[in-house]
Amino acid sequence: MDIYDEKFVENLFNRMSNTYGTTNYISSFGFTERWRKQCVREIDWSSDIEKGYDLMSGMGESWNLINKECKKNHQLVGVDISPKMNGQAKGKLTSYKNLKIHIREENVLKNSIDDNSTDYVISTFGLKTFSDAQLKVLAKQIHRILKVNGQFSFVEISKPKNKFLILSYMFYLKLIIPIVGKLFMGNSSDYKMLGIYCEAFKDCHRFKSYLEEEGLQVEMCQYFFGCATGVKGKKISA
Ligand SMILES: C[S@@+](CC[C@H](N)C(=O)[O-])C[C@H]1O[C@@H](n2cnc3c(N)ncnc32)[C@H](O)[C@@H]1O
Repeated sequence: MDIYDEKFVENLFNRMSNTYGTTNYISSFGFTERWRKQCVREIDWSSDIEKGYDLMSGMGESWNLINKECKKNHQLVGVDISPKMNGQAKGKLTSYKNLKIHIREENVLKNSIDDNSTDYVISTFGLKTFSDAQLKVLAKQIHRILKVNGQFSFVEISKPKNKFLILSYMFYLKLIIPIVGKLFMGNSSDYKMLGIYCEAFKDCHRFKSYLEEEGLQVEMCQYFFGCATGVKGKKISA
């Protein structure tokens, strides 16, 4: 079984689509929502931003937060590979007064987005299911689709450095989340994958270096003692 196979990941999220929102909400004690908000706020919304992409957009979990920051008639495109996650997201397409939202159902690693076409890219909790080689491809894609001065912000659940936190956090990811998945949703094995992906992903440091190799200006972000990490920055030249 190749856990980074794109079809495997698509099927995993197709299966989780009915339960992902609730399990995520109950099991994270509000942390994931807080980290999404922090990720969205890493973008400088005061600049002239008209259009952006939410990559690995899932069920549109970040759209209410983007709606609070952007100006009217903002064009937002969600990109997600999973038809079932997109199906859930479609219910929110007209829910936000500032946003005109479209969904592109495609693999972000082979996307059809035009070169130099977006003011920003945002992504919350979509990095962990990528292998090293896939993260390099993603970094190339970010550089390709951003306009010069275009911004990006990513956040992902990460393995903290502090030994005590590692033990409790990995216990939580590997045991508590699957138990919540099982208790409330009757599904624990798919939620076990979360811990497996997080353990392998570690944090955003590798992704930061791949973005830098593409010539992007990048800063690391740490949330709650490294239980989540992010990268933010901009494209400084073509
Ligand atoms: C953990 S969910 C995150 C959803 C949402 N952004 C959030 O904040 O909760 C990861 C999403 O990434 C999508 N995804 C994974 N690999 C992808 C790929 N190669 N291209 C596009 N979407 C992908 C999955 O279908 C899933 O909806």
